[in-house]
Amino acid sequence: MEKLGFERRQRVVLVPFPFQGHITPMLQLGSIFHSKGFSITIAQTKFNSPNPSNYPEFTFLPLSDNLDNYDTSFCNMLNVISFVNTNCEGPFEDYMVQMLGEEDVQGEVACIVYDPIMNFVNVVANKLNLPTIVLKTTPATYMQSQVVMFQLLEEKLIPLPESQLQVSIPQIHPLRFKDLPLPATDKIPQDVLDFTQSYMDIKSSSAIIWNTANTLDHYPLQQLQQHFRVPIFPIGPFHKLAPNLTTSLMEEDNGCLSWLDKQAPNSVIYVSFGSLAIIDENALLEIARGLAKSEQPFLWVVRPSLLNGSNAMDFLPEDFKERTRERGCIVKWVPQRKVLAHPAVGGFFSHCGWNSTLESICEGVPLICMPFFTDQMVIARYMNYVWKVGVELENVLESGIEKGIRTLMVSEEGKVMRKRAFEMKLELEQCINGGGSSYESLDQLVEFIVSLAG
Ligand code: UDX
Repeated sequence: MEKLGFERRQRVVLVPFPFQGHITPMLQLGSIFHSKGFSITIAQTKFNSPNPSNYPEFTFLPLSDNLDNYDTSFCNMLNVISFVNTNCEGPFEDYMVQMLGEEDVQGEVACIVYDPIMNFVNVVANKLNLPTIVLKTTPATYMQSQVVMFQLLEEKLIPLPESQLQVSIPQIHPLRFKDLPLPATDKIPQDVLDFTQSYMDIKSSSAIIWNTANTLDHYPLQQLQQHFRVPIFPIGPFHKLAPNLTTSLMEEDNGCLSWLDKQAPNSVIYVSFGSLAIIDENALLEIARGLAKSEQPFLWVVRPSLLNGSNAMDFLPEDFKERTRERGCIVKWVPQRKVLAHPAVGGFFSHCGWNSTLESICEGVPLICMPFFTDQMVIARYMNYVWKVGVELENVLESGIEKGIRTLMVSEEGKVMRKRAFEMKLELEQCINGGGSSYESLDQLVEFIVSLAG
């Protein structure tokens, strides 16, 4: 990647929210900035810290978080967020004061880029008069749906009856009430609303960086540019600009790649629900039965924390393992980008987290969508209805899962989706290549950051 020359070395401080789906894009952004000539400092909670020795080009500042022995599962996420914000503000301020007070070979601080869940960053930056930029790790469409959701709440159109869930919302067509990031039939708890509002607020930040591309998010980006009065830089998909960076917090099982080598092209359905989703025992069994009945080869990531409270592997029935021994590979965690790039993988049965989605379409792999929460519902709808690269499940029982797998892997409809996914892969390549929208936007972003430092 071409470096834009600037006279003095400048440092960008990055502050990720410490969960896989948020750490990954922040590390990738660090690598992208580094390739442009910035020095990179990552202020990272001790909890879920990536191993600094894997990133010799970055400087790490460990933030004490007191999260040892704390319940960090998704069910307790709002408390985790509040805890992290309370505990990390002091240590972060101390580091920044020290950094500003010393001459350092890493250069002067040009700005702090932070995940908007890490509110404390803005407080410290304001005190020290440092510019900040927000990194959005979810699609612009999601943010747009949040904006509209608050309008609907204000107009008292939510909560609404179950019968309305399939109705489309005119301001954000083709999203339906059932695709909204928070359940439209329930009264949404105040703490959830407060958090969502705070997550949407960029406070005094000077700009927004988005891990998306114009070809995916053009209209919502245009709308949001009117909503936020600061520049927006859609420079993604990040992982294609930082292709060799490892970002996994869990150990990757590379054995699955040798297993894939033995499978026919486009024959394997890859199954994974990211790093946070939790299912119950019944859902686990329905998925197992659906996979067994589909008769397709599969690679299934069963993370130990997938089942609330117990190791999911222990709950897989022996007869399922026996029946699928020849055509199934079950592991705890895989090198997902390599898996999706493998010629044997023909489909991805996914929760539609934004990283997984970008990784899949960048390899031309179509999906079966089983969204769990927040942005995943919005993404699933776009996959199915707008981009036409995702199968929407009729139900999440064995019958729906079997049908979904067959539709994607062996039907004419599935073939059309694979072709469309390949076209999207090419469109995304164009965005990041010379002259493409993300490429241009990245150059503008670098100039913008240099201008912040004065
Ligand atoms: C979270 C949210 O749930 C998601 O909706 C949001 O868009 C981002 O933050 P997560 O659930 O973990 O993320 O999903 P996702 O965004 O897909 O990120 C998972 C990451 O883990 C991907 O980069 C994927 O490559 C990686 N992964 C997953 C592995 O490396 N190995 C695996 O076995 C599974």
